[in-house]
Amino acid sequence: IIRGVNIGGVFLIEPFIKPSLFDQFLILNEADRPVDEWTFSATLGKQEARKQLEEHWNTFVTKEDLETLAEYGINWIRIPIGYWAFNITDDEPFVDGQIPYIERMLEWARDIGLKVELDLHGAPGSQNGFDNSGRRGSPQWLHSRTNIDRTLDALSKMSQLAAEWEDVVYGIQIMNEPSRWKWPAADIFKFYNEAYELVRGISPDTYFMIHDTFLSPNDWPSLVNTTWTNALMDTHIYQMFDEYVVSLDESAHIDLVAKMAENITIFDRSQLGVVVGEFSAATHDCTKYINGLGRGSRWEGTLEGMDRPHCPFDTCSCTGDYGSNYKEFSTHYKRFLRRYVDAQLAIYDREILGWFYWNFKTEGAPEWD
Ligand SMILES: *[C@@H]1O[C@H](CO)[C@@H](O)[C@H](O)[C@H]1NC(C)=O
Ligand SMILES: *[C@@H]1O[C@H](CO)[C@@H](O)[C@H](O)[C@H]1NC(C)=O
Ligand SMILES: *[C@@H]1O[C@H](CO)[C@@H](O)[C@H](O)[C@H]1NC(C)=O
Repeated sequence: IIRGVNIGGVFLIEPFIKPSLFDQFLILNEADRPVDEWTFSATLGKQEARKQLEEHWNTFVTKEDLETLAEYGINWIRIPIGYWAFNITDDEPFVDGQIPYIERMLEWARDIGLKVELDLHGAPGSQNGFDNSGRRGSPQWLHSRTNIDRTLDALSKMSQLAAEWEDVVYGIQIMNEPSRWKWPAADIFKFYNEAYELVRGISPDTYFMIHDTFLSPNDWPSLVNTTWTNALMDTHIYQMFDEYVVSLDESAHIDLVAKMAENITIFDRSQLGVVVGEFSAATHDCTKYINGLGRGSRWEGTLEGMDRPHCPFDTCSCTGDYGSNYKEFSTHYKRFLRRYVDAQLAIYDREILGWFYWNFKTEGAPEWD
């Protein structure tokens, strides 16, 4: 059973995980402030961006962090990486140089006995338009053959890394969260098939991990080639990114865990093994920058286009239990968090292959840390 934690926000920075990286830009006009790694690097310029990112790669995660995870019973880590660690062009603002730090992490994982999933989390052009792809905006990934070729080049280098560290790297996720809203499943499936040939040619024994593209479990068979071996399905289960779900009360959130797992379990038993590659303890979207830097929340009704707050109370406020300081959490809320996380762990442990909590660390997002 995979009992894992994501090492997110290290090799692909995210404003909500480490807001302090973005505080230096508060002096700029709002419209000029970086919102993702692309604009972070473009604003600083390559030299300064490299200096700040190397410092970040070197310090944000330590061997002690991984030892702590192992002591808690964690047996896997998932490492999100942007394509620009492997394939970069001169005219892109991104900086490379991550690989020695990734290898240092693989060395730590080997010493500690943790298995590793390498996860291609950002694609050229962006596969979903989220800041966590490295570039917020309109997704362009599958629109150009050049982007696809560069993605495959990044995957071939990632597979070589996996092959060199075959006693540590047990899984390769070929693409995180490609958007089904932008491309039909058939287009994404075509890429998955190409990636399979490539990855299998270099790293024959690792798990080949695909993402469900946010389709519902009943539609997952359209993403799967039945000739694949050692393939796994990755799904991400969050309960705060739509208006309906943030309005649910505590017991409804807990009931929804089991409901959402039902068809996933059926797929797991009949098709590919399933891993919940991301989940958290959050049931609100109050967390600073969780919807993107400069954006508000559904909870308080301040997200663009929202006409009213959405929460299970008469008054919706991102303070106290829904603020960023866990020392202010009520005993009741802490008990709820425990019940909600326990409900998820119990089901993913029992019914499917396992799970990866998101995330190992944040600066001020307790339900994600
Ligand atoms: C990136 O991938 C493209 C397409 O395969 C390749 O032509 C190019 O040389 C690669 N760039 C680097 C820096 O490896
Ligand atoms: C499944 O994979 C096989 C072997 O790589 C390939 O020949 C076949 O075309 C794929 N099936 C689909 C439906 O793409
Ligand atoms: C599970 O699948 C059934 C039958 O295909 C469908 O009716 C139901 O809505 C699905 N449940 C969820 C929670 O998506």
